[in-house]
Amino acid sequence: MNPALRRPLVAGNWKLHKTVGESTELVAALAKALPAEPTAEVVVAPVFTALSAVRDAAAGSAIAHAAQDVYWEASGAFTGEVSAPLLSDLGCSYVIVGHSERRQLFGESDEHVARKAAAVLGAGMVPIVCCGESLEQREAGETEAHVLSQVGAALAGLSEGDLAKVVIAYEPIWAIGTGRTASPDDAQQVHGAIRGLLSERFGSALADGTRILYGGSVKPGNAAELMAQPDIDGALVGGASLESDSFAAIVAAAQA
Ligand code: PGA
Repeated sequence: MNPALRRPLVAGNWKLHKTVGESTELVAALAKALPAEPTAEVVVAPVFTALSAVRDAAAGSAIAHAAQDVYWEASGAFTGEVSAPLLSDLGCSYVIVGHSERRQLFGESDEHVARKAAAVLGAGMVPIVCCGESLEQREAGETEAHVLSQVGAALAGLSEGDLAKVVIAYEPIWAIGTGRTASPDDAQQVHGAIRGLLSERFGSALADGTRILYGGSVKPGNAAELMAQPDIDGALVGGASLESDSFAAIVAAAQA
């Protein structure tokens, strides 16, 4: 990472885990485990039903909260969906969009991801736009083409002001929840390619200011090495974000 240009961001994706009570306990423990003013921005993404309790439990700490998904329409006959204005109303600052689990298990397309990212920005929040290749794509040498096409599609149509806010998370699908991590060099190569695309399409100032997180089995033992890469500006953490000590250790690794 380059802290002169980009403040590191460490986000915990709690996925479908934890009751309201468990979520508030985790936030309280995390607030204790973190320094009062961490170098990195710290974000947690609980399930929708725990968002307001997490907001209250995190009040006065450095921990911001995020949603894991959103629907692009603001309101209407869309049974079961949650919109960006409702998340903003709960004080969310970030929303994860296009996570590979959404794409693979719930059929989200690049077009859906683009609409979600635009809706999040329209409601005054920041999307964390996920991208990443499957093992088959990696083995076929298609990693960069696939990832760059996902990123390009997600950002198409955004204004310059909105583009400058977006956070990107590169998460190779084969590394998510598997204990297999991309090597720092392999991850850096993809991060560099993403920044290259941003520079080519939107200019170097915008590319230099955009935070690109790595995700996929980030743990206290590998976080520092990954985030030491020049184009890795933080982490999107699943499993290791479910315990305060391991998540705080990853945040600490971003301080260095
Ligand atoms: P993991 O998940 O850290 O458990 O691999 C990362 C993610 O899905 O964001």
